[in-house]
Amino acid sequence: MSKIILTGDRPSGRLHLGHYVGSLLNRVTLQNQFAQYVMIADVQALTDNFDNPEKIRNSVFELVYDYLSVGIDPNKTTIFIQSQIPEIAELTVYFLNLVTLGRLERNPTVKAEIRQKGFGNSIPAGFLCYPVSQSADITVFQAELVPVGEDQIPMIEQANEIVRRFNTIYSTDCLKESKPLLSKTPRLVGTDGQAKASKSLGNAIFLSDEPNVIKEKVFSMFTDPNHIHAGDPGKVEGNVVFTYLDAFHPNKDEVEDLKSKYKRGGLGDMVIKKILNDVLQDLLTPIREKRNELNKDYICNVLKTGISEAKLAAAKTMDQVRTAIGIDYIR
Ligand code: TRP
Repeated sequence: MSKIILTGDRPSGRLHLGHYVGSLLNRVTLQNQFAQYVMIADVQALTDNFDNPEKIRNSVFELVYDYLSVGIDPNKTTIFIQSQIPEIAELTVYFLNLVTLGRLERNPTVKAEIRQKGFGNSIPAGFLCYPVSQSADITVFQAELVPVGEDQIPMIEQANEIVRRFNTIYSTDCLKESKPLLSKTPRLVGTDGQAKASKSLGNAIFLSDEPNVIKEKVFSMFTDPNHIHAGDPGKVEGNVVFTYLDAFHPNKDEVEDLKSKYKRGGLGDMVIKKILNDVLQDLLTPIREKRNELNKDYICNVLKTGISEAKLAAAKTMDQVRTAIGIDYIR
């Protein structure tokens, strides 16, 4: 039997090229090697959007459109929604006994988010505790590998601490520790040259962008501010057009050629932007076409199937968990 892997996204908007190279492409490959679960983490998204559930609701469907249009295959990958598996919430409650507030407050990723969101001294308890819920996400499915970015390593450490505590306290081996499977591609920069492409910064190219929008974003990309005339030598480092060519151009030799020409002088920004636009249109056109073949009924069916598969797996673990704790009163 192949190993179980689980990964998830918070539904908080459409997916962009950063997600494509950072996680989606990986999932398309991994679904052929492992039993893959992809979870739409709506419960986690509510921890900082509880007053805007409409945004979460709409994004859930957007995510599934994005997944299927890039080639995540619902026959190979179990796609499901976190809130529809109450077993996760149940396991979270038992896990909460096994962590201290002090430990939760030390989580570096959560710490950074708290600062960024400006919670000050009014941190919602649900938000502080989401790593516990994430520990339940991972363990209830017996996942051994969790494909994530670096910022999620503290979550997996937290999950493993809880698993060890649970198994020791309740003298069981019913829960498994897991390992992160780190993405090898570096984080994609934004079109403006900022460290990260993100929806909130408005510097991302979305998988569902229309051709003219993609073109507009490419032609307004940050290049080398000192490269004023085509004849001037230009800088390739920190030049977003080249970063994207590195990430998406299918022919690496051609990119190297362009780079040396650009550095020497004689290659205008408009020319490299046109090349990048062609590359991205070629990449995104089939994705858009696939997306247009999908409809809401089909998406709902995919989710229905995924949810019942996920429920079955989670229920099995929860039987063992209840037995281990000794709360399986009536059998
Ligand atoms: N915290 C993850 C993120 O923000 C999403 C997530 C929720 C997740 N549960 C998960 C990732 C379980 C991996 C495994 O991207």
